Amino acid sequence: MASWGALHRLQVIARSAHALPSSCKLSTKAAGPRRAAQSYPVLNGGILPIYRHVYAANTRNSEGCRQRYLELLEKVKFGGGENAILRHTQRNKKLLVRERLRLLLDDQAFLELSPFAGLGLTYGDVPAAGCLSGVGKIHGIWCVFVANDATVKGGTAYPITVKKQLRAQEIALQNRLPTVYLVDSGGAFLPLQAELFPDKEHGGRTFYNEAVMSALKIPQVAVVCGSCTAGGAYIPTMAEETIIVDRIGTIFLAGPPLVKAATGESVSSEDLGGAKLHSQVSGCVDHFAPTEDDAYSRARHIISAVNYDPVPEETTDYEEPLYDRHELPGLAPRDYSCTLDVKLILSRIVDGSKFREFKADYGTCLVTGFASIDGHLVGIVASNGELTHNASLKGCHFVQLCNQREIPLLFLQNTTSRASLPPNQAKAAEQTNQIKAQASMMAAVACATVPKITLVIGGCHGGESFAMCGRSFSPNFLFLWPNARVAIVDPNTAATKESPDDERALQKKLREESCAFYSSARLWDDGVILPEDTREVGIMDICPGDRDLSCLHLAVCLFNHLLTSWRPMRSCGHCFNAQ
Ligand code: COA
Repeated sequence: MASWGALHRLQVIARSAHALPSSCKLSTKAAGPRRAAQSYPVLNGGILPIYRHVYAANTRNSEGCRQRYLELLEKVKFGGGENAILRHTQRNKKLLVRERLRLLLDDQAFLELSPFAGLGLTYGDVPAAGCLSGVGKIHGIWCVFVANDATVKGGTAYPITVKKQLRAQEIALQNRLPTVYLVDSGGAFLPLQAELFPDKEHGGRTFYNEAVMSALKIPQVAVVCGSCTAGGAYIPTMAEETIIVDRIGTIFLAGPPLVKAATGESVSSEDLGGAKLHSQVSGCVDHFAPTEDDAYSRARHIISAVNYDPVPEETTDYEEPLYDRHELPGLAPRDYSCTLDVKLILSRIVDGSKFREFKADYGTCLVTGFASIDGHLVGIVASNGELTHNASLKGCHFVQLCNQREIPLLFLQNTTSRASLPPNQAKAAEQTNQIKAQASMMAAVACATVPKITLVIGGCHGGESFAMCGRSFSPNFLFLWPNARVAIVDPNTAATKESPDDERALQKKLREESCAFYSSARLWDDGVILPEDTREVGIMDICPGDRDLSCLHLAVCLFNHLLTSWRPMRSCGHCFNAQ
């Protein structure tokens, strides 16, 4: 145990580190690293003729994945379907959720998260989980948005809706972003109340998080642009500033039908909890907006006055990769046997295809090194085979290095489902050491406080996926390519002691469950992105071709923003669910 004197010396050293003159502090400005990255060695991204058959097999597989991706995207864009859209716009005279976001956000790129959440669940399809979430700018300030889509069962909250809202709040907290809620919800989806009400990570957690985020000085604004019934009533009432739209917004714990049933009294929604009542009598809201347009304009004004600095203008002073991004589908592995050198992928993602490799000749099953993405310096950790003992030690070293230098980390994950079986006792002992080394890497990843992004480019299997910053290791964002497979073991190698029929049935089940869209439907990630769009365009935009944003660009910009405008957070004595 350290002596008191040693402990005191350590404390003095720690304090003096915080008191370094600014010239001695770590540089987090983009310009320096950007210039340095321009001189890094250029990767050779040429695909050798002997690998053309692998490339062709991957391309065919990626094309199938792309078709599925586009089909699902189309489905999601229609929300609750034609009748529900008519009811929403014609009868209820409300704007569609994407039109609302268009009015709320700057006329710039933004990123929608997890659009496939809610598709094909045991309780049916809930397009976009009935609630759009993402990150966009308002008056130049990055904000998280959470917007109910009332065309999906009146905007009621399913278990997956709650999960999506909690994830959006987690992103807001991790990246310290103001949050805007557009509330239009009939409260809990009653038939599933047992799965969304009682537990810790259920509906009430949204309100708990609102309180904790406020205490941590993360501004939150709500616009009541529809029904806020029952639990839905607490989102606007717990936000710091709330706007309600006349004749459209209502807030009550139980609507007129329940009042009638309980008391026999007939009362209109407007009298029970309309805009005038809440802005003039109850004081539940702070601003009355005569129209929806006016409400979003007011929300923008509020965000402009939260005393956050706008993001500095983005630089365009960086080089595009030298190799064609449209070749990425051919490099997206169909399965583990179709995996090519990961540097072929890196050469199509990083600026100028330039990469300064770290420990190039050691533990080569993992590639580590520095590169820039759109001018932002990142540390890259990329699977290039089984995460061996040496590869794990290298990964551990590199992650600690980036953490010490405050460089965001980008993990490209393609993990094996199972280490090859040891042929003898010596090999078995070697594998045991591998577990220990992987555990060290896991510890380094878990404890690294720098921002982390994970991109699953192939397999996300077994224990190796944890060391490669899988979902349970809390990366700030995790995206999947559509060819990705997420399962504890590779479905094709899953064996049972039962009959061959049972084995086939198990493998079929695992195959379905390991699909990227299955993962995204359950919010095990932040969205599926096409390989060729990784750097160039966004997952989905309000109006196709209008405002799109690459997930990596956004994530890396956010991280740079986070590092350059660090706001120390004062603890409010509560622990947030994300931490
Ligand atoms: N649970 C389950 N389903 C619900 C629901 C709820 N809380 N609230 C609405 N729905 C369903 C309706 O059954 C309808 O389904 P359908 O399209 O299959 O027919 C759909 O959502 C739309 O509802 P509808 O009433 O036709 O639309 P609307 O736009 O006129 O009104 C609401 C929407 C949310 C204002 C209204 O449905 C309402 O007040 N619901 C009750 C809210 C409530 O009491 N919640 C308590 C939860 S604890």
